[in-house]
Amino acid sequence: MSFRLRLIIMSALAVAAAIALTSGTVYFLVNNQLIKEVDRSLQDRAAQATTIPHISGGIPPPCFVSVNSHLVALLGGYFQEIDKSGKVSPLPSKSTRIPVTAQERKVATDKRSGQLARYDYATVKGQRVRVFTSPIDPTDPNCGALQVARPLASLDRTLRQLAVELFVLGLSGIGLAAILGWVIAGAAMRPVRHMTQTSEHVARTRDLSRRIEMRGHDELARLAKSFNTMLEALEFSLRSQRQLVADASHELRTPLTTAKTNVDVLRRTELPKEERDLILHDVSQQIDELAVLVTDIVDLARGVEPNLEIEDVRLDLLVEQTVARARRLSPRSTFTLELEPCLVRGVPSRLERAVANLLDNACKWSPPDTPIEVKVSQGTVSVRDHGQGIDDADLPLVFDRFYRASSARALPGTGLGLAIVRQVAESNGGRVSVERPSDGGALLRIELPVIDEG
Ligand SMILES: Nc1ncnc2c1ncn2[C@@H]1O[C@H](COP(=O)(O)OP(=O)(O)OP(=O)(O)O)[C@@H](O)[C@H]1O
Ligand SMILES: [Mg+2]
Repeated sequence: MSFRLRLIIMSALAVAAAIALTSGTVYFLVNNQLIKEVDRSLQDRAAQATTIPHISGGIPPPCFVSVNSHLVALLGGYFQEIDKSGKVSPLPSKSTRIPVTAQERKVATDKRSGQLARYDYATVKGQRVRVFTSPIDPTDPNCGALQVARPLASLDRTLRQLAVELFVLGLSGIGLAAILGWVIAGAAMRPVRHMTQTSEHVARTRDLSRRIEMRGHDELARLAKSFNTMLEALEFSLRSQRQLVADASHELRTPLTTAKTNVDVLRRTELPKEERDLILHDVSQQIDELAVLVTDIVDLARGVEPNLEIEDVRLDLLVEQTVARARRLSPRSTFTLELEPCLVRGVPSRLERAVANLLDNACKWSPPDTPIEVKVSQGTVSVRDHGQGIDDADLPLVFDRFYRASSARALPGTGLGLAIVRQVAESNGGRVSVERPSDGGALLRIELPVIDEG
């Protein structure tokens, strides 16, 4: 069953329940009102039958009831008397008898029971009647009770008609609710339909550039917005994966071709031993470079892995250890350290790799007799060297993948070092920057958000 149909059924059911409740209440109130009127008219008839006419000078007769055929013809209905012994006599005699219940009889026979007057339903000549039973004289225990009954045919007809009208009205209401529900559900479901179509299109075509158009600020608009954000993130991640694969395959091709050419030369031609050793040395170096390149590419690809262990890291201690390692790898370089304790959040191995890449560059471009200044303060690691520095034109590009300034091409490297640094910084909520200090050299920074040690 579609959601739209479910909505329509639910709204029709809600309207049906409301209509049933309202109709029931209306029917009950009208019935009560009509019965009250009948009861009042029955009371009036009883009063008329027991009103003592003016008897000049005479004493009113005890247990006076005056019902003659004239009165019955005038008022309609049925009258009967129950005497104090419980004997029932229709009035005028020989007219139709009203069935008497024990409770009604008690009104005539047992004055002490406190039963003064009562209303009941009975059936006379196959017709529903309302019966009013009241004592003829409540103060005189010798008087019985008078019963007055009135057929309810016209009241029943009115009620039946009311019931039919309420039923037809109810059905029309439910029908109208269903139609309106259909229209409203259609309008309300439009954004959901749009979202479904978009996600189906994305699933079918893998086209992540599709977005949901959405206006307003309601729940559906928020859902669509987060859906669009998710598509954007997916598109970005897919695009960067594709770009990485494209860049990597491009960069791998050159050293692989050179290595293959060298191996082919070795296979095909008889070379003197020295030349052969030289080519073999070349091949070995190219394979080493390839290994570094592959490690860097894998590192870059790992950067987009979502589930690396993030922890609190003492940035100053991490930098201290990385510098110690750089000292071992590059004994000719000199480092000066200025470390302020600070805590950041990140993946320690990735942060170490980023700092190591900055140190590696500084060692590469720094003349041996100049110090490499390493500082850690407020979540910022800065590495400054006194080498040739970076040209202004290269400054905005050095963090790009595989970018190497033309002056750097003579030195070993693949141009992935700073791309890894940027990726690590950004994936930890930080950023990178580079500048060319006025007195020469290069100054590179990783800025990470610090966390409060408390
Ligand atoms: N300290 C520096 N001094 C001068 N130039 C630098 C410095 N650091 C980076 N660069 C320039 O930025 C470019 C990119 O640096 P990056 O670290 O990404 O690549 P790489 O060092 O050439 O190779 P890799 O780090 O992948 O081995 C370098 O090729 C160089 O031109
Ligand atoms: Mg480098």
